[in-house]
Amino acid sequence: MKDGLEDVIACKTTISRIALENGRAILEYRGYDIRDLARKASYEEVAYLLLYGELPKKYELQDFKIELAERRELPPQIIGLLTHLPPYTHPMVVLRTATSYLGSLDKKIAVRTREETFNKAKDLIAKFPTIVAYYHRIRTGRNIIPPALEFSHAANFLYMLHGEEPTKTAERALDMDLILHAEHELNASTFAARIAASTLADIYACVVAATGTLMGPLHGGAAQEVMRMLREVASPRRAEEYVKRKIEAGERIMGFGHRVYRGVMDPRAELLRYLAKRLAAEGSTKWFEISEAIAKAAYKYKKLLPNVDFYSASVYANLGIPDDLFVNIFAMGRISGWTAHIIEQYENNRLIRPRAEYVGEKEKKFIPLSKR
Ligand code: SDX
Repeated sequence: MKDGLEDVIACKTTISRIALENGRAILEYRGYDIRDLARKASYEEVAYLLLYGELPKKYELQDFKIELAERRELPPQIIGLLTHLPPYTHPMVVLRTATSYLGSLDKKIAVRTREETFNKAKDLIAKFPTIVAYYHRIRTGRNIIPPALEFSHAANFLYMLHGEEPTKTAERALDMDLILHAEHELNASTFAARIAASTLADIYACVVAATGTLMGPLHGGAAQEVMRMLREVASPRRAEEYVKRKIEAGERIMGFGHRVYRGVMDPRAELLRYLAKRLAAEGSTKWFEISEAIAKAAYKYKKLLPNVDFYSASVYANLGIPDDLFVNIFAMGRISGWTAHIIEQYENNRLIRPRAEYVGEKEKKFIPLSKR
C-alpha cells in the first residue's frame, strides 16, 4: 500500500463523487455537477443539498435561509472569549477554540438524535462566519457588526467583516467560492471528522478535529501560503525565475498539485480562475496577473496544475480579506461538507480503525536499568 492512504477506499458515501473520466475531472455533490451548482445555486441551497441529500424546494430554501440567519448571532460567552484571546492568535486557532466552547455551552451536547444533530450542524454553519468576522473586528480594535438577518450568507459575512453592504459582484464571488469549498469527499479534514464521528464523539469534537486538520499548509492552509508567494514574486515578469528556482530546489509550489486530480485541472480551480479574473477586472489586476504567470511557469517546468487554493488567494485579496483569514473562509465553506459526513458516519455507526504495517525491530531482550 502507498503511504498516505493514497487510493485507499476508506468508506462508502452518497455525499460527493470525484472521478477522472475520459481525461476530464468530475466533481459532483449528491450527484449534481459542481459546475452547475457553482453557477446556478446559492451556498444556502448547496448546504441544504449536502445535509438533506436533495435540492430544496422554494419554501424549504426560504425556511432554511431564515433558520440559518436566526442562528448567526453568538452567545455573549463566545464574544467574551473572542475579546480575551490574544490578538496574535491565528484565526483558525480561534475558530477551533470557539467551536469547542460552543460545545461546552450546549446542554444537549451528548444528544445524537438526527433532529438534534441537524440543529447543531445548522448552528455551526450559521455561526462560523460570525466567529471569523467578530474576531477580526476585535483584534483590529473595531466594534463588532451584528449579523444582518436580511442579507444572504455570503453578503452577511462581508458586511460583518467590512461594516458595509458588499457589491453584488463581491457577494456572488464569495457565494460561489463557498460552494466550491463546501465538500470534497474524503480529504484529510473530512476524514478526521469521520474518524471522530465513528467513535460517536459529539459533533463539536468532530468539527474541532476537522478544523485543526484543515489548518495545515498541505491542506487548507495552502491559500495563505499562495498569497505569501504572490507577494514575494511581486510582478508577473519575476514569476518564471521564481518557479524555476523553487522546482530546481525540489520545493513545493503552494496551490499546485492534488492527490486525486492527477494530470487534470481541479475543476474548482477552473471556476475560481474565472472568479479571480472577474474580480480583477473590477479591482486590482495585480494578483491575478502574477497568478497567471506563475501557473504558466509551473506547467512549463513541471506540468503542475493549480488546485482549489491557488486562485482563491487572488479572489480573497480582491474581496479585502486579510491573508490569515483565507483558511477560515475555506472552513466557512467546508463546514457543510464536514457536518454532512459526520451525520452519515453516525448513521454508518462503525468504528474506523485501520491497521499499520510494523517495520521496527522485534522480540528484543529487556536490559535492566542498572545495565543500560
Ligand atoms: C487541498 O484532498 C483534498 O481533496 C484536498 C482539497 C480539498 O478540497 O479538501 O482539494 C484541498 O488541500 C488542496 C491542496 C492544497 N495544498 C497545496 O497546494 C500544497 C502544495 N501541494 C503539494 O503539497 C501536493 O500537491 C499535495 C500535498 C496537494 C498532494 O501531494 P501528493 O499527492 O502526496 O503528491 P506528491 O507529493 O506525491 O507529488 C507527486 C509529484 C512529486 O514529484 P516527483 O517527486 O514524483 O518528481 O508531484 C510533485 C512532487 O514533487 N508535486 C509538486 C507539487 N505537488 C506535487 N512539486 C512542486 N510543487 C507542488 N505543489
